[in-house]
Amino acid sequence: MCKYRLGLLGWPLSHSLSPVMQRAALDAYGLTDWIYELIPTPPDELAQAWPSIQSHYFGCNVTIPHKQTIAAWVQSDPLANAVGAVNTIVFQENDLPLGSNTDILGLMGDLACHGIDLRQKRVVILGAGGASRAAVYLLVYLGCKIMLINRTLARSKEIQSKYPEAVILGKFEDVEDWQPQAMINCTSVGMWPYIEDCPWPDSLAFPRGVLAYDMIYRPMQTAFLKKAEAAHGTGISGIGMLVHQGAAAFTIWTKKPAPFEIMFKAVQNSLANS
Ligand SMILES: NC(=O)c1ccc[n+]([C@@H]2O[C@H](COP(=O)([O-])OP(=O)(O)OC[C@H]3O[C@@H](n4cnc5c(N)ncnc54)[C@H](OP(=O)(O)O)[C@@H]3O)[C@@H](O)[C@H]2O)c1
Repeated sequence: MCKYRLGLLGWPLSHSLSPVMQRAALDAYGLTDWIYELIPTPPDELAQAWPSIQSHYFGCNVTIPHKQTIAAWVQSDPLANAVGAVNTIVFQENDLPLGSNTDILGLMGDLACHGIDLRQKRVVILGAGGASRAAVYLLVYLGCKIMLINRTLARSKEIQSKYPEAVILGKFEDVEDWQPQAMINCTSVGMWPYIEDCPWPDSLAFPRGVLAYDMIYRPMQTAFLKKAEAAHGTGISGIGMLVHQGAAAFTIWTKKPAPFEIMFKAVQNSLANS
């Protein structure tokens, strides 16, 4: 009998390896009364589905495109509240769900594992959704100067207004002259199955020698990372971030240390076989 139901709430979800990763962690502890499943929910059905999700699940992860919408419907912890985006939830009886943001820990943990120190660096961030908010929060904390580029200007303006000292709004044409040391893709452009798409425009040369971090983990080698490497930069996939943020979520739900290596291997195997 399944007592503890977990899931991933988002749309689309066909790319996601969170079920494989979380099931491997639950299996490692022999937690047979826990399950983790996909909760595919388009934006126009989210409000209607929310009461049923609250009553049927113990907790969930939240991904594209719901992290900001959901933040307004839960009781966020101080970090998630500061970021304005939630990716991990614990449902409570007779009270508001508790919302956390483990994307910050995810990015921070993965940068540390790669020995990357972004303190005081100039960093371009592509995208202004939930994941971008987490990245900007971390980079502001690290004393970075940030150029934010997004398709929808209103979303990047909203983030910039929170950190006017650290964040400027930019266009792709501005990047080369600004001489960034790193670029982080926080858009969903290039994510499986649209693996030929790239958030950096074909019409412009990719800045030379930058560290390029792609939050997308499927495929591991995105068009964005290929362009960065062709321009003598270093490319890092979001696979490590996925495992770090998932490990933090696992601990929030189960109160147990996450079996990080087992989770990482499960994701790697799944990517190798897909
Ligand atoms: N590795 C990890 O652990 C990890 C963690 C978090 C997120 N991610 C990945 O990061 C990506 C973003 O996630 P999110 O939660 O921030 O999603 P989100 O809130 O839905 O934001 C999506 C972002 O992508 C942009 N975008 C989407 N389609 C675009 C297009 N055709 N052209 C230009 N921009 C486009 C959006 O721009 P607009 O504002 O103009 O719509 C927005 O900035 C996803 O691929 C997600 O899987 C990975």
